[in-house]
Amino acid sequence: SILFVCLGNICRSPMAEGALRQAAAQRGIDLTIDSAGTGGWHVGDPPDPRAIATARTRGVDLSGLRGRVVRAEDFHRFDLIVALDRSNLRDLREIEPDDATARLSLLLDHVRGREGQSVADPYTGDLEDFAITWAEVRAGAEGLLDWIEAT
Ligand code: 4NP
Repeated sequence: SILFVCLGNICRSPMAEGALRQAAAQRGIDLTIDSAGTGGWHVGDPPDPRAIATARTRGVDLSGLRGRVVRAEDFHRFDLIVALDRSNLRDLREIEPDDATARLSLLLDHVRGREGQSVADPYTGDLEDFAITWAEVRAGAEGLLDWIEAT
C-alpha cells in the first residue's frame, strides 16, 4: 500500500496516485493507493482542473478524488509514504510518530538520474507545467513498480 503526499493534495499527489493506478493496472499489480496533503487548504476539494485535464488526456480519471490531510494513522496504514518534494519529506519526518511502520521515500529517488530531486509544484504554472508533472509522476510510478517487483 502506497500513500503519495504533496502540499495541497490537488495537483501533484493526485496525479501520482492516478499515474500509479494506471501503471500498476498495466502490469497487473494489485496495490492500495491513496494521496494526501501536508496542508489543509483544499480538504474535500477535487483535484485542480488542470490536473484532471492533464490526466484525462492520458486515460486517467482523477475527478472523483477529494483532498485530505496526512494524519498519524497513515504511518501505520500504509507500507510506503512517498513525498513529491523535499519539503514534503521534511514535513513528513516532523509528524512521523515514533512507532511508525510506514517507510518514507522521495518519489524521484525511484527514477534513475533524478535521485534527491523534487517534483516541482505546477500550481502557479500553466498546462505545460502540468504536462511535465505528469511525465515525472509517471516515471516515478514505473520506478516504484520496478522496485516493488524486485523486492
Ligand atoms: P500540490 O499543489 O501540492 O501539488 O497539490 C498545491 C496546490 C495548492 C496549494 C499549494 C500547492 N495551495 O497553497 O493552495
